[in-house]
Amino acid sequence: MAQFNETELTAAVVKSFEQTPNPRAKFLLQELVKSLHDYVSKTGLTFEEWEYAIDFLTRTGHKCTDIRQEFILLSDVFGVSMLVDAVNHRDRDGATETTVLGPFYVGEHKVTPHGTDVSESLEGERMFVQSRVTDLNGKPLAGVPVDIWHADGDGFYDSQKETYATEGAVSRARFITDSDGSFFFRTILPCSYPIPTDGPVGEMIMQTKRHPMRPAHIHFLVNAPGYEPLITHVFIEGDKYIDSDVVFGVKDELIAKVEKRSDPTMPDGKKADAPWHLMTYEFRVKPGGGMAPKPLGTKVAEPA
Ligand SMILES: [Fe+2]
Repeated sequence: MAQFNETELTAAVVKSFEQTPNPRAKFLLQELVKSLHDYVSKTGLTFEEWEYAIDFLTRTGHKCTDIRQEFILLSDVFGVSMLVDAVNHRDRDGATETTVLGPFYVGEHKVTPHGTDVSESLEGERMFVQSRVTDLNGKPLAGVPVDIWHADGDGFYDSQKETYATEGAVSRARFITDSDGSFFFRTILPCSYPIPTDGPVGEMIMQTKRHPMRPAHIHFLVNAPGYEPLITHVFIEGDKYIDSDVVFGVKDELIAKVEKRSDPTMPDGKKADAPWHLMTYEFRVKPGGGMAPKPLGTKVAEPA
């Protein structure tokens, strides 16, 4: 039969994937078809709406570059990124909670000595971050690469600025944990910031009267060999947007109290020129494997 009614059409498209050699790919494609068809039927999608959706996705793709990922942003604001995170981390066994990678991880962070001020060139209140990586029993893990990145005092990541190509990374570095699992660095106190609103995703957020803000945070990627890569943020307690993150990424355990200090020296014994803030947070990682995210612009292979 060459002609299908609405129900038969869904069944026919599902069946068309029957010969897919990879069973998981077959399952994913068939379920995708069912969900898409269900959405169209349920909403009675018009031609104009379908055309708008195609144009929206096209513009989303055109906005992507090697250092900007508008599709990750789209996944984030729809809560899809956090749902993928949730279904893949149902049992933490006491490991630090995870959250979204976000669209600004560019990978290939440069190994940086402990204590470095990663935001040296930026205006802002100074902060000292001290941290440690342990296993689930609290045993320190040495030699672990930890990538950190955060926005500047105006709410922009280095990769969003024109100067990125010439000046390189700012507020973005890799630290390797010491024998006691520790690492520490200086930076500025990050502030809450809007997701980019100069692309189709930001436009949608504004048009739908959502706010575009993320509460202040630092991103951490802890990638200990033999352990699950830990992709997370540490949020700053008291932020105005802590309960309404536009990407739904906050978890209670990831909120840190940042103390305001006026001690003349910082924890590494170096002089403080002005009052400063102290963030202390420890990461516990879970045995296992898994892939750390690849730098943006990397061609992603088909999953096994
Ligand atoms: Fe961020």
